[in-house]
Amino acid sequence: MHIYKVGGAVRDRLLGRPVSDIDWLVVGATVEDMHAQGFRPVGADFPVFLHPKTGEEYALARTERKSGRGYGGFTFHASPDVTLEEDLIRRDLTINAMAEDEQGTVYDPYGGQVDLEQRILRHVSPAFAEDPLRVLRVARFAARYAPLGFHVAEQTLALMRQIAESGELQALTAERSWKEIERALMESEPQVFVQVLHDSGALKELMPELENGRDTLAALHQAAQHQQPLAVRWACLLRGLEPAAIKALNQRFKAPRECQELAVLVGEFAGHADDALQLPPASLLEMLQKFDVYRRPQRFEDFIAACAMAQGDAGYPQADYLRGAAAAARAVEVKPLVEAGLSGQGLGEALKGERLKALQAYKLG
Ligand code: CTP
Repeated sequence: MHIYKVGGAVRDRLLGRPVSDIDWLVVGATVEDMHAQGFRPVGADFPVFLHPKTGEEYALARTERKSGRGYGGFTFHASPDVTLEEDLIRRDLTINAMAEDEQGTVYDPYGGQVDLEQRILRHVSPAFAEDPLRVLRVARFAARYAPLGFHVAEQTLALMRQIAESGELQALTAERSWKEIERALMESEPQVFVQVLHDSGALKELMPELENGRDTLAALHQAAQHQQPLAVRWACLLRGLEPAAIKALNQRFKAPRECQELAVLVGEFAGHADDALQLPPASLLEMLQKFDVYRRPQRFEDFIAACAMAQGDAGYPQADYLRGAAAAARAVEVKPLVEAGLSGQGLGEALKGERLKALQAYKLG
């Protein structure tokens, strides 16, 4: 039995980047050998095991990554006869198809190191097409490594285009796609992810609503530069779309609630925020009520951030104005109204009236 470090751990060490989790590859072992050594299988028909002490993933060398049953909808052929080269050739990118043994010797049968040096994201073999999710993965790696000067090889882009045209991207589950989208959005150049999806014809399959949204990419880039959280980045990406399109994208990828909510709110109120300084107090109040700024102050902050990102480096004077308005409305006390004997709907109306007065004063002041 031979054990190798594989994939991202080797790639990132060679790039001098921090290695977060290590994937191990086991060549020349059977499922029984793994059990005998105390490894725990992660699933019934998937040849991956967890180390009894470290909890790290150890996969048996395998071929035939076909769609079907098994872990995440795949079937595999794992056997002790599968060689290191046979396993590596079925991986996605050359830079991900390297292995390293205990002595630190790197095995690189498909030119991963040269591609790392030349900053190229290149598929290893036609087996790339076995998993359409790889189209999103390549776009995500392009977003992550863009600051290092990486780009997608022409032939790889052509293969991605073929996969997109085949319609197979439609078969990806919302969960698998969202995981890639989420990770890509959190990279330092997330707009590159969208650009690569566009260039490969995948965007019109996955998110046709975004096909004509070039200026949202600038906002997304800005959001990454300002280390904004996921929901802000998602809202920036969807900004300017019709409500129906926002809803469709939210639902298609089953985006987390926070992301969905913020995208919808930005869609509905970004115009109001941009015009904040001219907005009548009643409209300002309506917006603050809708945001429930009294109980959800952070969501309003995220909203302001998403609106500000669209202005680039120009600055967003509306931000402080909106914060001030929220503070003024929030400063209205409920207690005196309750003490005056109000309750239920009457209390709600009175509170609204007081908040409106506070906003009128704020606007004058
Ligand atoms: N892999 C693949 N095709 C996929 C998923 C994974 O070929 N659809 C292979 C690649 O060799 C990859 C390795 O499995 O390097 C580990 O995958 P994963 O942990 O998802 O990604 P990493 O490459 O480690 O990258 P990241 O830093 O994004 O986790």
